[in-house]
Amino acid sequence: MSYHKATVRDVPLEHKTVLVRADYNVPMTSDGKIDDDLRIRASVPTLQYLLERGCKVVVMSHLGRPEAREAKFSLQPVAKHLEELLEKPVAFVEDCIGDKVVQAVKNAHPGSVVLLENLRYYPEEEADNADFAKKIATATGARYFVQDGFGVVHRAHASTDAITHCIPSVSGLLLEKEYVTITEAMEKPARPLVAVLGGAKISDKIKVIEKFVEVADRIIIGGAMANTFLEYRGTNVGASLVEHDQTEVLDGIYHAAREKVGEEGIDDFLILPTDVAVAKEPTPDATRRVVAVDDIPANQKALDVGDKTIEKVAAAIDEAQTVIWNGTLGFAEIPAFAHGSARVALELATHPDTVSIIGGGDTADFVLRWDGHGGASFTHVSTGGGASLELMSGKKLPGVESLLGAKK
Ligand code: 3PG
Repeated sequence: MSYHKATVRDVPLEHKTVLVRADYNVPMTSDGKIDDDLRIRASVPTLQYLLERGCKVVVMSHLGRPEAREAKFSLQPVAKHLEELLEKPVAFVEDCIGDKVVQAVKNAHPGSVVLLENLRYYPEEEADNADFAKKIATATGARYFVQDGFGVVHRAHASTDAITHCIPSVSGLLLEKEYVTITEAMEKPARPLVAVLGGAKISDKIKVIEKFVEVADRIIIGGAMANTFLEYRGTNVGASLVEHDQTEVLDGIYHAAREKVGEEGIDDFLILPTDVAVAKEPTPDATRRVVAVDDIPANQKALDVGDKTIEKVAAAIDEAQTVIWNGTLGFAEIPAFAHGSARVALELATHPDTVSIIGGGDTADFVLRWDGHGGASFTHVSTGGGASLELMSGKKLPGVESLLGAKK
């Protein structure tokens, strides 16, 4: 698939100062360590590309949702980690605009990296403020802007939108890879295409479920979201988490599904659990007890798909040529309720000829904890949570649309 935006390969950025937007919004431990560095590792190819061309590379990002300048939101630990990955010094600046930035960029040698402090220390960032973007552009003196923070391109912020009005703006290699891989899997998948959808709420995923009803050959529904589907289909789900206000949405989903596969094909198209693992609460000491969905006790919650359902899911994956997975199938933080998700990961890892796309956020966190190869067991582990969902849903992403178009 050709990409509709210009990339770093399309502009003469050799020996220039280049401003890169990365998404280093990484999970941190309570003692200030990086818990998962997928997003940092994923930014390296673009940075290497620019460094090899003698660019001064100035990188900016946000971390978390700070309301004040607190140390726990500082990007300093990321600068250290980036140094290790690039095997080059990374100069960290305690601001993202102003004199400190001007000086740091001036002192930087061509072929070196400067990382700016958290953009969200300024409310102007999320407000998509044009003056703030201009201040970043002026302080860095960048000749090109490279958008490579796939995880944040669904936001129209100063560093994803307003900045593109100040500096010629192109796509980085990670953004291109994410965009093309996900779009291709949605638009031109090797079939059968199986969507594995989990997570807590239908309301977070309405658009993506509707899209998969359109494009997938089968949809597996798990996670707490499955309880809402089961209740809609007349099953008593006991004390399980259910969204009671989704009847209209589910009417629409089932209507579209029936139009596509007919009444007789519905249960093989929208695959719901037939058994579930239950407990009173998802506590670490809870034991896994599997019951048929018709036998969920009134005081118990469904917390994972059951063993028979897991076999059904495995069989569907075995027949698939493409699997797109978004949302864990159970309360996967607790091993007793991670069986379904672990089996999906195992099936995908042992079917290397099947295209496997893992949506970002919780699903990516899960597979990275599970996989001993940093995500290499899958075709693609997305660095974007909300961004990958929006892209799969077919929405336009402001941080992509604002970039220069590809030359025809
Ligand atoms: C993410 O983690 O989804 C992105 O970094 C965006 O962060 P946000 O949801 O705080 O805008």
